[in-house]
Amino acid sequence: MAIGIPKKDKLLDDNQVELVYAHKKSYQEIINSDLVEYQSIYSHASPKRLYFGDNLDVLRLLATEPEICGSINLIYIDPPFATESHFLSRKQSKAYDDTLTGAMFVEFLRERLIWLHQLLSNHGSIYLHLDEKMIFHIKLIMDEIFGAENYRNMIVRQKCNPQNYTRRTYGKTADFILFYTKSDTYIWNQPKVPLSENSKKEYQYIEPETGRQFMKVPLHAPGVRHGETGKPWRGKMPPPGKHWQYPPKTLDEMDARGEIFWSKNGNPRRKVDLNEHSGVGVQDIWLEFRDAYNQNVKITGYPTEKNPDLLRIIIAASSNPGDLILDGFAGSGTSLAIADEMQRNWIGVDHSIEAFKTILNRFEHGIKPMGDFVKSSGSNSEEVYIQPTLFDQGASDQLDNRAKRLDNQDTKITDFSIFVPSPIPAQIEDIVKTWQGNG
Ligand SMILES: C[S@@+](CC[C@H](N)C(=O)[O-])C[C@H]1O[C@@H](n2cnc3c(N)ncnc32)[C@H](O)[C@@H]1O
Repeated sequence: MAIGIPKKDKLLDDNQVELVYAHKKSYQEIINSDLVEYQSIYSHASPKRLYFGDNLDVLRLLATEPEICGSINLIYIDPPFATESHFLSRKQSKAYDDTLTGAMFVEFLRERLIWLHQLLSNHGSIYLHLDEKMIFHIKLIMDEIFGAENYRNMIVRQKCNPQNYTRRTYGKTADFILFYTKSDTYIWNQPKVPLSENSKKEYQYIEPETGRQFMKVPLHAPGVRHGETGKPWRGKMPPPGKHWQYPPKTLDEMDARGEIFWSKNGNPRRKVDLNEHSGVGVQDIWLEFRDAYNQNVKITGYPTEKNPDLLRIIIAASSNPGDLILDGFAGSGTSLAIADEMQRNWIGVDHSIEAFKTILNRFEHGIKPMGDFVKSSGSNSEEVYIQPTLFDQGASDQLDNRAKRLDNQDTKITDFSIFVPSPIPAQIEDIVKTWQGNG
């Protein structure tokens, strides 16, 4: 049994809300299942691991490894969204099915989230990507497992360009990322963005002596104080009901440094210098991370692959170089490739053969502009996009030429191990052999 799993099912606190649905298993049922055996078919002395298989088996297995359980600092998961769809790659190969809905979907994810909670370190964070269909159900499940007090944000992401619907609703361009932490002492590197052009316009004053651009803000704040900040400064009391933001000594020092602007009537204001502004903290509405939306955007061709910049911001904010990051629904390997690029270690899991091939191909060749059209062989129809992979016969020459001019991935990713269930699935063995042959 994994360390830290509650021996009994938790009782509800007076304030707690619980989602009730058919066939909801107890914690005991979830943790008391048998382990599936996995073996390594490509190994490297590195903490980075790629698993082919069902993530429930893999998470359970990882929880038995003392050096991994409780050591993962960041989890990003982008599971199926209960769309009732069958996803194909751009080459029309089967990628994965997304057919679970309602209670079955909730329980599928809940089982995995219970294990992910065990695996996460005390300073760790989890980001869970879903859309409007199941986000509200899963928010309650996350509160149950991670604790409502560890909820941090529900990030609203613009996933695509505005759509010109004729339906009688507003266009649906958002999906959502739930951000929870294991505790309140979590890793956090405040991400910032530069001031917008509109905000810069607020810095409308220029200091004649230096040319510095600044804005004026009050030196007082609401509330009466009886200490230093409630006393007169340079013979002036703070306005009624207010106090100085700093004690008189600090105000004197600021004035000596030229940080205070005096109006004609002798009212002091604080100067805020545009050049000293380090940017504004990133907020919870993300408009800059749409998935591939034009012909120049680089992709693998795997369905539902996410924008690499989305992962860059999450990884930068919630982990540090050398940390271990886990993605249990790795798909095309976006989070793994970006974690690698940012000098983090990673564990990725997916049970789709197409995902497995795509990840190896991405590690070998990087990603390519989606608009690089190639004619599908034997077709007279319109040109369709097909991104050749190292598993396509005859595609390697084409890839080599294209790689020279298109690829910006400097180094191949090879320093990881591959784990598969026993007995080794024949198709996976072949894929790994082909990949090694090309490497
Ligand atoms: C939405 S996609 C992830 C896309 C990924 N974020 C990317 O950027 O490419 C969901 C992935 O979860 C995988 N998946 C679904 N159920 C799984 C399971 N039980 N075990 C492992 N992988 C699973 C699917 O094969 C699919 O690749």
